[in-house]
Amino acid sequence: MSLTFRPFSDFAVVVGIKGGGKSVFTRWYAKQLDRFLMLDPTRQNSTLGYVVYHPQQIAPAFQSFKKVIYQPQHASDEYAAPFFATALHFCNYTLIIDEVDEYLGSKHIICSDAKTVIVRGRNQGIGGIFNTRRPHDINKCIRSNADHVVTFQMNEEDDLKYMAKWIDKNPSEIKALKEYHSFYYNRYTKSTIELNPCPLV
Ligand SMILES: Nc1ncnc2c1ncn2[C@@H]1O[C@H](COP(=O)(O)OP(=O)(O)OP(=O)(O)O)[C@@H](O)[C@H]1O
Ligand SMILES: [Mg+2]
Repeated sequence: MSLTFRPFSDFAVVVGIKGGGKSVFTRWYAKQLDRFLMLDPTRQNSTLGYVVYHPQQIAPAFQSFKKVIYQPQHASDEYAAPFFATALHFCNYTLIIDEVDEYLGSKHIICSDAKTVIVRGRNQGIGGIFNTRRPHDINKCIRSNADHVVTFQMNEEDDLKYMAKWIDKNPSEIKALKEYHSFYYNRYTKSTIELNPCPLV
């Protein structure tokens, strides 16, 4: 199974219900990347690279290490906003954000740097992988910039309708996905295929 993902320019969005397989998939995919900066609020990815806990540690760590994971100590905007400011200072890497709707929601954007990184990131060699349980709540700039969309099982009607339109499937097909299976939509080819579960890493 492989996505034709260009890690320094493409954006991928990974959606699905709680426990659907988004984080496992992202972890498996991140393992294959050469250089990434990850915002990991739920602290599930400590084994993937060099972990930092304070905003001021992010830039020095990313200057020294190719794979840096930021696990904010507090779930507040004050702790997450500097991550996006720092992200804009680097180029040629993949930005990975778990629960992206917390930072770039349909109504709330944590800081202007967060939007800038999505809208202009690819110009400076920043690709992205963004996870969410609530796709219809993500900011529209993410949808308009997504090249790859991986959709795991979902139940909520609004989300099913939103994703069905996005990936050109019926809501019932998404609802009927088997555990840890997903639909992979490629914007370049405008095609959707079903993916089997990725290996557990
Ligand atoms: N591909 C897989 N193969 C086997 N087990 C899996 C797979 N994907 C997920 N699981 C199992 O399901 C659990 C939940 O998966 P995961 O953490 O990826 O969900 P999630 O979609 O990120 O959920 P949340 O929205 O709560 O973060 C994993 O801890 C693992 O036990
Ligand atoms: Mg998760």
